Amino acid sequence: MNTKKLLYIETFGCQMNDRDSEIMRQLLAATHDVTDSMHGADAIIVNTCSIRDKAEQKAYSLLGALRKRKRENPGLIIAAAGCVAQQEGAKMLSRMPHVDLVVGPQNIYRLPELFARAGEQGKGIVATDSAETFHIPPFLPVLRQGSPYKRFVTIMQGCNNFCTYCIVPFTRGREISRRAEDVVAEVHHLAAGGVKEVTLLGQNVNSYGNDQPPGARTGFASLLRQVAAINGIERVRFTTSNPKDLSEELMQCFADLDKLCPHFHLPVQSGSNAILKRMNRRYTIELYLDKVEKLRGYRPEIALTTDIIVGFPGETANDFQATLDLVEMVRYHSAFSFKYSSRPPAQSCQFDDSVSREEKESRLAVLQERLTQITLARNSEYIGRRLELMVEGESKAADGQWSGRSGTNHIVNFPSHDILVPGQLVQVVIREACLHSLRGELIEEEAGSKESGEWRTTSGSCPCAR
Ligand code: SAH
Ligand code: SF4
Ligand code: F3S
Repeated sequence: MNTKKLLYIETFGCQMNDRDSEIMRQLLAATHDVTDSMHGADAIIVNTCSIRDKAEQKAYSLLGALRKRKRENPGLIIAAAGCVAQQEGAKMLSRMPHVDLVVGPQNIYRLPELFARAGEQGKGIVATDSAETFHIPPFLPVLRQGSPYKRFVTIMQGCNNFCTYCIVPFTRGREISRRAEDVVAEVHHLAAGGVKEVTLLGQNVNSYGNDQPPGARTGFASLLRQVAAINGIERVRFTTSNPKDLSEELMQCFADLDKLCPHFHLPVQSGSNAILKRMNRRYTIELYLDKVEKLRGYRPEIALTTDIIVGFPGETANDFQATLDLVEMVRYHSAFSFKYSSRPPAQSCQFDDSVSREEKESRLAVLQERLTQITLARNSEYIGRRLELMVEGESKAADGQWSGRSGTNHIVNFPSHDILVPGQLVQVVIREACLHSLRGELIEEEAGSKESGEWRTTSGSCPCAR
């Protein structure tokens, strides 16, 4: 008889949190099976994000809603993890006394012991100690859980940059790189289990290794080369990078490594040098544009995406116009854009020349409209072009419809009557473009046709267009 308890995890925030949730699942696997419904769970972990005020509110509102569940089932264990947990610590327990455990990102490795204590103790536990000397322990993922073909691999944690708007250095601590051997061993292990694609994660992967002593240091470009050389791995991605640290060596990887996907998420935040300076981003728009041009030189088909903040304190109409001008110049394949949110203790909270809520909203609407048009135009440029896709699965919407992801990170839908395997690589020619996806036809390869460029397609039309 299965005596294991049921665990439900709700994850907010970035891929770091996704990966941490996977780790938590694995750490608790001896005592808990995972359920995808909160109803009937014996333990609930809310893995929180505090990047913007709204994200924090979402976490609190879910945790608040669990109060009733705890009253009905006093044996239920409720844990808050992630960035809000780290930031709030004991304060969270006074606000939410029904929470049993508050655990920060560096402490998740203690979860089995913390869970056992939380069950017995009957009063809240706070595990948010954070050490400058903390090391992510070597940790081999179990392959039964999670995607069988693509995985995240955390290569470092924390951030030293202190962009003035950002909470991350306060929640995730200083930059600590994992040992290159540990990262490579983890990817070998994944590849041996059939994983085809890995995404290397860090808040600023470009500064990977900088916390190691010179001489014993592996830089990010060198780590990428080691990972790409692993047999069985077909695609390598990474995220994210601060443009100030984007080196020529890393750009060269885009020319040399076929497995490195032609997609670069390069958050710009603002098109105005005055604002970038006040954000402490430590690059100018001229330098940024120069790097964009060079990247395109190294890999002409590279798709660029970005993050933009509007309404940073002191942002004038001219500064905002500079952001609009920048998006015209770069023509991003897609972009995330946000209203500035004040995040104490981040430094910009003390900047007093705030932009009104209405102004922020109207700037965001103007920017998003333009970004949408550019994404559509960019997507249309793929019509008639051939792309290689990694099959993600059969579409839930329609029979015989499949979905895959291109190296450029586009979702492409296509019809196929064959049974395809998630993780398999297929070739398509793009026929239609929508805002969030492309529509393609499978190419049936003739022998030797890849070089000669001869291919035949099967037909279909875009469901988004109907
Ligand atoms: N490490 C990444 C950013 C991670 S946070 C980098 O430096 O590029 C993801 C995005 O959230 C940021 O790029 C930024 O656009 C946005 N963001 C961060 N703090 C914010 C704040 N206080 N208000 C609004 N958006 C914010
Ligand atoms: Fe935040 Fe800046 Fe670090 Fe990115 S680089 S996590 S925006 S402080
Ligand atoms: Fe959010 Fe923390 Fe990630 S604040 S974006 S979960 S690093």
